[in-house]
Amino acid sequence: MTLFSSYKLGRITLANRIVMAPMSRSRARGGTPNALMRDYYQQRAEAGLIITEGTSPSPNGLGFPREAGIYSREQVDGWRQVTDAVHEAGGHIFVQVMHCGRVGHVLNLPPGARLLGPSAVPAKGEMFTDAQGKQPISTPEEMTASDVAQVRREFIQAARNAIDAGFDGIELHGANGFLFEQFFNPHVNRRTDGYGGGLEHRARLIVEVARDCAEAIGADRVGVRLSPCNTHVDMPLHDDIPELYAHVAGQLRGLVYVHLVGNSHEAWTGTAARIRGAFEGTLITNRGFTPESAQSVLAAGQAELVAFGSPFIANPDFVTRAREGLPLAQTRMELLHGPGAEGYTDYPRATRGEPARREVPG
Ligand SMILES: Cc1cc2nc3c(=O)[nH]c(=O)nc-3n(C[C@H](O)[C@H](O)[C@H](O)COP(=O)(O)O)c2cc1C
Repeated sequence: MTLFSSYKLGRITLANRIVMAPMSRSRARGGTPNALMRDYYQQRAEAGLIITEGTSPSPNGLGFPREAGIYSREQVDGWRQVTDAVHEAGGHIFVQVMHCGRVGHVLNLPPGARLLGPSAVPAKGEMFTDAQGKQPISTPEEMTASDVAQVRREFIQAARNAIDAGFDGIELHGANGFLFEQFFNPHVNRRTDGYGGGLEHRARLIVEVARDCAEAIGADRVGVRLSPCNTHVDMPLHDDIPELYAHVAGQLRGLVYVHLVGNSHEAWTGTAARIRGAFEGTLITNRGFTPESAQSVLAAGQAELVAFGSPFIANPDFVTRAREGLPLAQTRMELLHGPGAEGYTDYPRATRGEPARREVPG
């Protein structure tokens, strides 16, 4: 078994075990996927599985400029051209459904939308806005019981919309300091109702949403991304991280995968092992892998699939380059977040006949 062997993931068979990690690239003007995004994803369709950029289930779930949504008819139609193009090229694609929660700025929200969080605790940090450049992240409103119920309904609709748009499944973004992780963290979640306090209560929202979505579209089409020990966007570490994630992973049994984002914190490895023990299903691992280190992780049985983020930005043919040991092109960092085709769809494939840089073992 190698990085380049096929893998059955729920209802689909991936051509290889390389996953393209979700990456926000801020090209969805007005929140709607477009032909530029179609081309970008189609160029990268040799990945066994593409997971799209974080995509909002509702206007309230947006946080960043030019972030895509999956709640309007227009957005579903926009995504349909993306999924068709990826499928035509022989690939598979899940949409990452991301509710930003408190990580956003009111200037990035459409009229009438509200920035929400588990509690009215703002994240320290800045957010880019198209209207006024960098601004301090806004203070969220504490979600009421009816806001929580509304978020659950929004995810169910987003899951249905994803299938309608031709996606092979959805990934719930439970990582990197966004809404679900905000609920996990007692420094950010100060609620005294059934969604705050003990770890089962703090874990409850993602568990309920995962079940709701599994019921709506099938558990074999729902995955979850988690990032234990993440401190990105003002997420202080807390005492019960291994126990909380072991509980969450146990509650997610039956879903198609858990996608773990790596981290250098000392508690990460032990927490990842607890997740692996509690979950049983497919594990995708991510952060900082090379084809060689990915192969080692697969060989050691620590994961079934490996996700690569940054290598895919400048290397649409990353899978070919990894297989043939070709050198990787470098990302033009200043163009990461747009706005146009430059630094997005203009990275070429490797030229045939370039000398091989290394052998990929196994
Ligand atoms: C430009 C950029 C945008 C990203 N956007 C997202 C996102 O929308 N959702 C998410 O879960 N992770 C996001 N990430 C994190 C990546 O999915 C991945 O975890 C990270 O790049 C580490 O993997 P790598 O070392 O292979 O790049 C983003 C990373 C980059 C570089």
